[in-house]
Amino acid sequence: MLVAYTIQEVRDWRKSHKHADAVLGFVPTMGALHAGHGALIERARRECDLVVVSIFVNPIQFNQLEDYQRYPRTLEADLAFCDQRGVDLVFAPSEQEMYPEPLDTYVEVQRLTTHLCGAFRPGHFRGVATVVTKLFNIVQPDRAYFGEKDAQQLAVIQRMVRDLNFPIEIVPVATVREPDGLAMSSRNQYLTPEERAIAPILYQGLQAALELARSGERSAKALVARARQVIEQEPAVRIEYLEVVDAQHMQPVEHIMAPVRVAVAAWLGKARLIDNVFFDPAEKSGPES
Ligand code: PAF
Repeated sequence: MLVAYTIQEVRDWRKSHKHADAVLGFVPTMGALHAGHGALIERARRECDLVVVSIFVNPIQFNQLEDYQRYPRTLEADLAFCDQRGVDLVFAPSEQEMYPEPLDTYVEVQRLTTHLCGAFRPGHFRGVATVVTKLFNIVQPDRAYFGEKDAQQLAVIQRMVRDLNFPIEIVPVATVREPDGLAMSSRNQYLTPEERAIAPILYQGLQAALELARSGERSAKALVARARQVIEQEPAVRIEYLEVVDAQHMQPVEHIMAPVRVAVAAWLGKARLIDNVFFDPAEKSGPES
């Protein structure tokens, strides 16, 4: 496995591996790799000839300096993690390499970023769309893999790729969960043991809403109320948002007539956790993530 720290190294590697029919799969990450990233990498490994992982804690997508500074950085362990999974190249640039000077150009996806995390983290998705564009231009993948836990991020990237004609297939990968249902996240390590024991309540709330939808309820308000009823049993959990949005444009719906996501963000101590489930009213029991 090659580890590249500069854009030029990636470009040189890419040039020497540019065979007409070789498919390159790309997994962009911010490191602190866990089984959720493992699922993205393993899927890319199964489906592609070459696999590139990037590890870069992207400063321009953090809206709080403190959150950026304390974000876990575990490069040695991450490299071993990638090596064990047969990754061909890891791109681990410095901040200076990615942003040698302040940017004058950003990529902004509108509409899809007005609700959910977009409403609470101003500038976050602009930072994500911009760094992913830069990474796509550097790595030039054929396919890129994103987790459904970050459903709004996934929708934003899918939209950006469509709007701007990137020749890249975006592959969604189902959320990986702990045995008790908690969605895997690098931020779970901020939880104290007591908070960690409480955290699965978020998924339990979403599951309760999903069950209600599967039993025929189509009112978004009723679904939100059901999820809240479960989650609010734990007073330590502070819900930031809990919404039903259409799965494509991430806009709130009142009555469910097309695929939706029930999405939640909540604070538990110092950790901000997000999760969501998918429901398609056309399916008796829709795929769930
Ligand atoms: O999901 C993440 O880890 C980040 O938002 C991403 C896509 C790597 C961009 O920095």
